[in-house]
Order: sequence, then C-alpha cells, then structure tokens
Amino acid sequence: MERSPAVGENPCYPVTGIGEGRTNTDAKDVAMMENHDPVVVVTGASRGIGRAVAEDLARHGYWVWLVARDADALHRAVTEIRQDGGRADMIPYDITRIDDAPQVMCELVEKAGKLDGLINNAGTTRRGSLRTITPTDFDAVMTVNVKSLLFLTQAAVAVMNPGGAIVNLASLNAFDVLKGAGLYATTKAAVVQLTRALAIDVADLQIRVNAVAPGFIHTEFNTALWDRPDMREWVETNTPFQRLGTPRDVVGAIRFLLGPDSAFMTGSVLVVDGGFLPSRLWPL
Ligand SMILES: NC(=O)c1ccc[n+]([C@@H]2O[C@H](COP(=O)([O-])OP(=O)(O)OC[C@H]3O[C@@H](n4cnc5c(N)ncnc54)[C@H](OP(=O)(O)O)[C@@H]3O)[C@@H](O)[C@H]2O)c1
Repeated sequence: MERSPAVGENPCYPVTGIGEGRTNTDAKDVAMMENHDPVVVVTGASRGIGRAVAEDLARHGYWVWLVARDADALHRAVTEIRQDGGRADMIPYDITRIDDAPQVMCELVEKAGKLDGLINNAGTTRRGSLRTITPTDFDAVMTVNVKSLLFLTQAAVAVMNPGGAIVNLASLNAFDVLKGAGLYATTKAAVVQLTRALAIDVADLQIRVNAVAPGFIHTEFNTALWDRPDMREWVETNTPFQRLGTPRDVVGAIRFLLGPDSAFMTGSVLVVDGGFLPSRLWPL
C-alpha cells in the first residue's frame, strides 16, 4: 500500500529522505541551475495583504508565485509586478483542494527549480455569535484558515530547500477576541499554535516557521466594517497611531521573517497593529 510522504520527504521523486533519490539531471536541475533568485509562494495574493506582499517581495529580488482562486485578478497582479521589473508567476488554486497540494508544489519546483519560502496569507471569516454559528460556517473558516494552511505547508516543506522559511498570517484576534469574531479568532489562535508546533517539527530540516499578527488593516476583507463612521471612530480612538493599517504596513514584517535577518527566529509571532494590542486608551 502506498503511504503519504512524511514531512521532509520529497513527494516529487521516489525518495527515502530529503535530497535523496535524484539520480539524473532533469528539468528541475536545469531550472535550478538557471535560477538564483529565491523562490517564494504567496497564497491569497489576488488582492489585499497578499498582493502587497507579492509586490514587495518581487521588488526585493524574490521570484514570487501568486496563489488564489481568481485567475483574472492574479493575472492583473502578475502583469503589474512584471511591468514594475519583478519576477512573478501565478498558480490559480483553491487551497481547500488539499489533495492537490503535493502536485501543486511539485509542479512549482519543476518550473521554478526550487522553493525557498511560503507565505500562508489566504484567509476568510464569517462574523456572528458562537451561539448561532453553523457547522457549515465552522467548516468553511476552519478549512481555509487552518486545515488548508497545514496541508499546503506540509506539501511545501517536502520540497523546500534547507534555509527556507514559512510565514503564517495570524491576527490580533488570536490574542484579543472581538465580539462577533469568535470563530475567526479561534482559527487565528490555531494558526499561532500551528506556527509554534510546525517550527519544532521542521527545525531539523533547517526550515523556519513564524507568524505575523496584523491589527486592523483596510482591505476588502473588512471594507464594510470600516466604511461605518462609528467603527472608524472606534478604531482610531483605540489605536495609539490613530488610524487603520494598510497592506503596505504589514509587508516589512513578513519580508523580515522570510529573509536571512531573522535566521535565528522560529515559532515567533510579530504583531503589526499600530499599538492596539498592548494599549488600553483611556480619556486622559
Ligand atoms: N485585513 C485585516 O484587517 C486583517 C487583520 C488580521 C489578519 N488578517 C489576515 O491576513 C490575511 C489576508 O487578509 P486580507 O485582508 O488581505 O483579505 P482579503 O482582501 O479578503 O484577501 C484574501 C485573499 O485570500 C484568498 N483566498 C481566500 N480563500 C481562498 C482559497 N480557498 N484558496 C485560495 N485563496 C483564497 C483570496 O483570493 P481569491 O478570492 O481570489 O481566492 C484573497 O486573495 C488573512 O489571512 C486574514 O485573516 C487580515
């Protein structure tokens, strides 16, 4: 009976351990010899934070592979990155198609020659009280934010170079639960704990796993919320920097955790929230 490849085994080759089983020069080796740029996959790169991250990494010399379901939006993003002088390609892929994750990663390595990084940014939410949340809502949010993140990471780790890095998108909701965001908060707390657990499990492969926890960032994810004047006022009053964040505010922390300057960091969470979490502003 065939068994699934374990973490650290390369599923693209008949291997018994990472780096073994490759006996002749093939397309992967040729591509690898021709490519010296670090290769990174960014999920949820069709818009919002993920797209800003892809643009930023391309500007900093990464060959970026953008993942999302909306192929037209991906195409627009890739075109603009290339026009800006960056190196980018797209993978239209629904990350909830978990069984396809190993194949997606194998095809990527076949084309790019290697994999050095993964930004697990794709995410979703359903607002509502936990008293009334449905099993369908629970599955929808858990599957995208937690289950798919884990199994895409598993597939990525199996082909990733030693020295590679993974950055997961958590949220301030992992630490502070906001009313109506209980399900989302639960998934993001799971992302934090997955980050720590994965960091331990892949350390022997010289792969690092960290997370960024953004605060309130203005994207399509929550436009309806921040279009409300009362919500705007609330966030500006309760954030020491007195404003919403933008996707550009988050990219630096992600690039830092992906790159060599954070080489001794793994299992860490960087909060990027304009000071919201550590403060309780009172009217003095
Ligand atoms: N915005 C905030 O205030 C905030 C705060 C804290 C944390 N975060 C986290 O940061 C991440 C990005 O948030 P955002 O504000 O940029 O959200 P967004 O604007 O709604 O973008 C979400 C991205 O995820 C992709 N996506 C969703 N489901 C997918 C699936 N099944 N397969 C592949 N891609 C999928 C979407 O692309 P397609 O629809 O094309 O598939 C889109 O590119 C999320 O993990 C979110 O939880 C956001």
